[in-house]
Amino acid sequence: MEIDVDLDIALNKHTEWKTKFRTAISKQETLDAETISKDSCCDFGKWLYGESRATLDDLKSYKECIAKHKIFHIEAGKIATTINLRKYTEAEGMLGVNTSYSNASSETGIAILRLKKEISDASKKSAFFDWSDELSLGNNFIDNDHKKLIQMINNFHNAMQEGRGDDVISKVLNNLFIYTREHFKREEDEMSRIKYPMIIEHRKKHEQLLKQVDDLQNDFNNGKMMHTTKVAKFLKDWLYNHILQNDKLLAEAISKAETLR
Ligand SMILES: [Fe+2]
Ligand SMILES: [Fe+2]
Repeated sequence: MEIDVDLDIALNKHTEWKTKFRTAISKQETLDAETISKDSCCDFGKWLYGESRATLDDLKSYKECIAKHKIFHIEAGKIATTINLRKYTEAEGMLGVNTSYSNASSETGIAILRLKKEISDASKKSAFFDWSDELSLGNNFIDNDHKKLIQMINNFHNAMQEGRGDDVISKVLNNLFIYTREHFKREEDEMSRIKYPMIIEHRKKHEQLLKQVDDLQNDFNNGKMMHTTKVAKFLKDWLYNHILQNDKLLAEAISKAETLR
C-alpha cells in the first residue's frame, strides 16, 4: 500500500500547534480561529478526506484518525478563540497538561502512529494484485491512477475473501466504480487533447468495463452475486490486459505528442 502523505510530518505539524499558540500568546497575535477549528483545512485533514478515503476506508486506525483529529481541531479552535479574546492567562492554562487540548493532541498523535503502522503492515502482506514494473507506462498520472485502482481491486478482493458485510463490500465496489470512471475520463481527456487516433476503440473498452462493473454492482445489491473472489480475478485480469494492450499505446502517444510540442 502506497500513501501520498508523510505521516511523520503530519504528526509534527500537529505537535507544533502548542508552540504556535504560545508564540501567539506572547506576541498577542490574532489567529484564524475558524480555519483552525476545522479538521479539513490542514494538509493532513485534506488528505484524510480526499482520495485516501477510498483506499484506507476499511482500516480501523483510519476511522480513529478522523475522529481524534476532528476533536483536536475543535479544541485548538477554542484556544485560538480565547487568544483572540485576549484572555492570555486562560489560553495558557488550556495548553497545560491533562487539559482537553493536551489529551486531544496526544490521542491524535497515537492515532496517526497507529495508522502508519497499519498501513505499513498491510504493505508487507503480499497482495492479490501486485504492482510490477512491467505495468509502469512512464506517465505519472496514468501510473498513479493505475496503482490506486490496483489497491482498490485488492480491497475488493480482501473484503470478499474475508467475508465482510454486504454494506462494506457494496461500498468498496462503489468506490471502485467511481474511481474507474474518473480515471477513464482523465485518459479520454488526454486522448482528445492529443487527437489520439485510437480514441474510439479505446473509449469503447472503457465503456464496456463500466457497464460490466455497473451490472456487477446491481447484481450485488440485488443479492445475485455470491461472495466470491472470481469477480476480483476478472477485474485484475481486465486491468492488467488493458494497461498492457491499450493504455501502453496511449502513454506512448502522449509522450510522442509532448516531444513534438
Ligand atoms: Fe484506458
Ligand atoms: Fe487506464
